[in-house]
Amino acid sequence: MNDRKKTVKDYIRTIVDFPHEGIMFRDVTTLFADPRGFRICIDQLLHPYAGERIDKVAGLEARGFIIGGAIAHQLSVGFVPIRKKGKLPGKTLSQDYKLEYGEAIMEVHDDAIQPGEKVLLVDDLLATGGTAEAGIKLIERMGGDIVGCAFIVDLPELGGRDKLASLGMDVHALCE
Ligand code: PRP
Ligand code: ADE
Repeated sequence: MNDRKKTVKDYIRTIVDFPHEGIMFRDVTTLFADPRGFRICIDQLLHPYAGERIDKVAGLEARGFIIGGAIAHQLSVGFVPIRKKGKLPGKTLSQDYKLEYGEAIMEVHDDAIQPGEKVLLVDDLLATGGTAEAGIKLIERMGGDIVGCAFIVDLPELGGRDKLASLGMDVHALCE
């Protein structure tokens, strides 16, 4: 295909049966590795927020760090990592969340966001929405005001978009 006609979705590779049998893993590393793909991805993630005040970009571990860092740089604002338990060195807030099997914990430094700051939350993929919900709760516990939640991929059959909408979130995804 002519490179200039490729959409963000065209750069994403699917790996069958990873990490478990039956999972079609949507692999965005091929998107990130392509200079045009990565550029149009970041531009399109930002597009709906043109002219909006954004004070911080928060990214969910791990691929949310890659797009969140690029978006924060583009906006000249700070980046806040939301990490899996035990990775952040300072004083943290913790939030448990459901995985497909079992539970996990996300953490953020408790001084990473000031009350009233406008925050854009980003990740590569929205599935059940459990990870994003944990991020939303952490940001809101610090008094942050979430401008929107932006993802490269939404898997609508897993219900994440509806879950975030029920929390009053504006969800932006580049493809399904
Ligand atoms: C993937 C993805 C999202 C999350 C979405 O991360 O990058 O963060 O799953 O799933 P959910 O909407 O059902 O919560 P994963 O948990 O595989 O962790 P990783 O980014 O560290 O690989
Ligand atoms: N996280 C949850 N489901 C996923 C999938 N199908 N591909 C990539 N990441 C995921």
